[in-house]
Amino acid sequence: MEKKTALITGAYGGLGQCFAEIHAKAGGDLILVGRDPKKLVAQAEKFTEKYKITAHTIAVDLAEKEAAWSIYDTCEANGWTVDYLINNAGFGGQGEFIARTMEQDMAMIAVNIETPTRLAKLFLPDFVKRGSGKVLNVSSTAAAMPGPLQAVYYATKAYLTSWSEALWREVKDTGVTVTCLMPGAMQTGFAQAGGLSDTKLFANAVSPLEVAQAGYDAMLQGELEVIAGLNALQKPFMNLSPMIPKKLLLDNVYKLQERGSADN
Ligand SMILES: NC(=O)c1ccc[n+]([C@@H]2O[C@H](COP(=O)([O-])OP(=O)(O)OC[C@H]3O[C@@H](n4cnc5c(N)ncnc54)[C@H](OP(=O)(O)O)[C@@H]3O)[C@@H](O)[C@H]2O)c1
Repeated sequence: MEKKTALITGAYGGLGQCFAEIHAKAGGDLILVGRDPKKLVAQAEKFTEKYKITAHTIAVDLAEKEAAWSIYDTCEANGWTVDYLINNAGFGGQGEFIARTMEQDMAMIAVNIETPTRLAKLFLPDFVKRGSGKVLNVSSTAAAMPGPLQAVYYATKAYLTSWSEALWREVKDTGVTVTCLMPGAMQTGFAQAGGLSDTKLFANAVSPLEVAQAGYDAMLQGELEVIAGLNALQKPFMNLSPMIPKKLLLDNVYKLQERGSADN
């Protein structure tokens, strides 16, 4: 099989590391994107050594308006052709909307919505022109319902799923695919970064490896969407959520995300 290069944002995070490992293990090259240059270089060295592949790094804060252009321009300037664009970076954050700061929520919108949208705006036309290329957008099961105590996060993921699925249809028959991955709660840095570690939602979080594999396989197949990694609590909740009266659903999501709810 021809060697493919995957550009992965949030590459050294929990799920990102799994994507990088899966792709490198399959013999693919990597463009690792994140904001900590030392972590990126260490990761690149590890995969280069372990799998004898080529790994480039791009250190950039994805909350910055210029981030997507800087990534695209770096690839162009170095002649790095991207075959797979994996929009993985993202973060949540527990708290009442009125208690969270403007900066926190605007940075979340920038990382979870704006930069993935800009990256696709830049890379997709090249993919379509070439007649090949794959995009994997990491959304969340949070996309399926509103999320009191993470109001903005759930809304960013609803955007990501809706946008991603619309793109899947627009590029159909071009040789390019766009796939959306919707994971349940995973054991990554996400819960700690978002102040969610002691919530019921994360009490039975799953390993990110099987989720990354499901997402990667779905991307290769050009599937529309894949839901993966639901724990015993989330599976029935997800299946039943469209039937649950909205106000009751909102109460339940609120309780799942209350600080200290893991012990209840
Ligand atoms: N874990 C879950 O339960 C869960 C469930 C559903 C969906 N997801 C989604 O899965 C994706 C991966 O998250 P994860 O679970 O692997 O969490 P994670 O371990 O916290 O990884 C998130 C990655 O995104 C990076 N990132 C965050 N803000 C950034 C910024 N401004 N600039 C550059 N990089 C930034 C982080 O880098 P730093 O370490 O430098 O911040 C980290 O590498 C996210 O889109 C998340 O929304 C996670």
